Amino acid sequence: MNDVPQSPVELSTVPLAEKVRLLTGASTFTLHGHDGLGLRPMAFSDGPTGVRGLQFSGGPEVTLLPNATVLASSWDEDAAEEVGRILAEEALAQGVHVVLGPTINLHRSPLGGRLFEAYSEDPLLSGRLAAAYVRGMQAAGVGACLKHLVANESETQRNTVSSVVDEATLREIYLLPFEIAVADADPWSVMSAYNRVNGIPATEQHHVQVEVLRDDWGWTGLVMSDWFATTSAAPAANGGLDLVMPGPDGPWGDALVRAVESGEVAESTVDEHVRRLLLLADRVGARGAPREAPADLPTPDSTVRREQMTRLAAAGLTVLTNRGGVLPLRSTDAVALVGRHAVETICMGGGSSKVNPPHQVSIVEGLRTRLASGPAVVDGVAVRRRPTMARQDVLCAPGGSDASVVWELLDADGEVLETRRTEEAETVVGWDDDLPRPCVGIRVRAEVLLDGGVEVGGLGVGDWTLRLAGEERSYAARVDGDGFGEEMLKLPGETFRVDLRGEGPHHLEGTVRLLDADDQGAMAGVARLQIAATTAVRPTEDVLEEARRAARACEVAVVVVGLTEEQETEAVDKSTLALPGDQDDLVRAVAAVAPRTVVVVNAATPVLMPWLDEVDAVLWAGLPGQEGGHAVAAALLGEVEPAGRLVTTFPRADGGSVAWSVTPVDGELTYDEGPWIGYRGHWAGRAPKPLFWAGHGLGYGAWEYADAEVTIDGTGPGALDVAVTLRNLGERESREVVQLYWDPAADDQPVRLVGWTAATVDSGAERRVRVCADARMMRRWDTAAGRWEQMPLDGTVLLARGLGDVRARLDLG
Ligand code: BGC
Repeated sequence: MNDVPQSPVELSTVPLAEKVRLLTGASTFTLHGHDGLGLRPMAFSDGPTGVRGLQFSGGPEVTLLPNATVLASSWDEDAAEEVGRILAEEALAQGVHVVLGPTINLHRSPLGGRLFEAYSEDPLLSGRLAAAYVRGMQAAGVGACLKHLVANESETQRNTVSSVVDEATLREIYLLPFEIAVADADPWSVMSAYNRVNGIPATEQHHVQVEVLRDDWGWTGLVMSDWFATTSAAPAANGGLDLVMPGPDGPWGDALVRAVESGEVAESTVDEHVRRLLLLADRVGARGAPREAPADLPTPDSTVRREQMTRLAAAGLTVLTNRGGVLPLRSTDAVALVGRHAVETICMGGGSSKVNPPHQVSIVEGLRTRLASGPAVVDGVAVRRRPTMARQDVLCAPGGSDASVVWELLDADGEVLETRRTEEAETVVGWDDDLPRPCVGIRVRAEVLLDGGVEVGGLGVGDWTLRLAGEERSYAARVDGDGFGEEMLKLPGETFRVDLRGEGPHHLEGTVRLLDADDQGAMAGVARLQIAATTAVRPTEDVLEEARRAARACEVAVVVVGLTEEQETEAVDKSTLALPGDQDDLVRAVAAVAPRTVVVVNAATPVLMPWLDEVDAVLWAGLPGQEGGHAVAAALLGEVEPAGRLVTTFPRADGGSVAWSVTPVDGELTYDEGPWIGYRGHWAGRAPKPLFWAGHGLGYGAWEYADAEVTIDGTGPGALDVAVTLRNLGERESREVVQLYWDPAADDQPVRLVGWTAATVDSGAERRVRVCADARMMRRWDTAAGRWEQMPLDGTVLLARGLGDVRARLDLG
């Protein structure tokens, strides 16, 4: 193993059991301290789009950033660095030492449910953005954590699946973002994934965690497991895993002590793990002088944060089509705004990256503050199949206050153990709780602030009885999945329809019995519970008719469509890229009668657009964070340029990507497409022409590329760069992202992004820019020799705005 920088502390005086105890968490998100080692307990928090705190749910109010694909779509390392800085500030304010991000798994198949958390399909773009994020965060003394190492691109059977990947593909594609971030920014920690890699659990991957990460890359940071991923003591401890998360229980403890005593694990190996932990502690200020949070940090709803969140989101919004320059809109336009996502804009994905933000601005709110009159709003067709947690403004706790729901935790005699009033309609029981006796049931109360037709219910494993306005329902909510994740992330439950009449509020009450050890299928006494309540969706035909009426009466219709946390979430993959429900019909109904139609896509990842030729413009909005509605409205009106470029290729139809299935066969998911994922495979003709290429995005500019010139200086690293003159032929200042691809002559080597540069140019002006090729993209992995080989600089370089719009081709001979 690579040498770990020596901590000045003499570990031989610390008993083995004490050292081992340090190597498993103390709770879900905290570690043990050790007085003798001067070690204070460290705190970790998810995650990539906000620092949600030390609880699984119900954490403090924090800033919700735009999701990773929106951030990446600006192709802007400065923005990624700013994101790292902002997250570090949010972490310091909460005493958090390590933020569990960035996620740099790649967009292999567009069906991956968790792609919204990861930057892109391209290893260079992902690696460089990750490095910038890590720099921004660690400069403030907060540790970053690259995750999830490695080949963790989908969620189906995520706790057990073996990703089967050949070594060259692993090095050239899936390890590469990690390699780049390690080399360029030296992250202080890395998270080992749930899956197996070529049959060996990621947490026991000596090859990846020791031979690659430490020996080849010379990295000195700490490897922690994904939550509950570790299943062994000696193989994981010998395989390069330093820290088991979460705690306090886990597979190490006494088992690891015994493994050392029996000689299966050398005590020096345990010492190395502890030294890495101490090094992390030194770096994040958990030893020596503690790191102080600056006194004047902006609060999540401060003007500073609102400006940052609006700007960061708007920069990643991406204009996919814009016929006749329908965008930007004028503030005097009469706008019909249609769609459930306009009213309930989805600002974040589901799972462990979820945070509790101060607000989530809808597109209705964003446009209302900007349009001279209107917009005329039409709520849309149903977008979910399953019930979802009530938004904060539709429930309040009896007696008023900011809380949504009151939960009384009961013991076996029905005595109240604890009363909770939660801001969100959610609580987690039996997890990091400090209760005097076990909780077996819960009494729940809330006031429903809606009227008319309402769907209400309760979600989360348990036996529910709920009453509202004289209606009562009882049901058993269960999961049939396995392993952590299912009962915490895919909440089962039911809703029922109630017609609420007259002045509210309307009193909702009920009980939940938690499962005990005799029940099958979930952890005894542990549950994540939510109350669902939403206005019942009207029949599709009624919605379409109302939408048509509004569309006929307006100058421009904006239809907002998208996915929800049912598709874009941890623990679940998609089965189709089609928009859920009857949203395609809604777009078509509006487009058939509106003078002009703009579609806004509120989804982080590719969707199908069978109506594309029937509408005038499409703006991709991702999951734009807490100020989402403001960012989208500002972009639609041209207050800011939506200058994003896609970070993943949108196929034309289901099955239209080289890598498609995410369903393991006999426990294995074979990455047999090798390096040909995303645009690489489409370019080589291994998949049909896509709907939109990664790199595509029109902004509000119009560009001419002239006098492209390639310079090759020697043959070594950094040898190739390209200069080009950009002319902004548009009517406004615009930001162009000049992308440099290389298509090597060798047939077995795919085209690849090797560099990019961005320039903001005034209308009518021109600018000469240079794009340097990153030498790491010009190597191939020689599996037989076990090393990188520099490739000959042959083939073609391409300057492109995504490979569907190549502006210059230069032969390298
Ligand atoms: C996720 C990780 C996350 C961890 C802690 C896991 O389910 O895969 O990304 O950091 O939970 O919440």
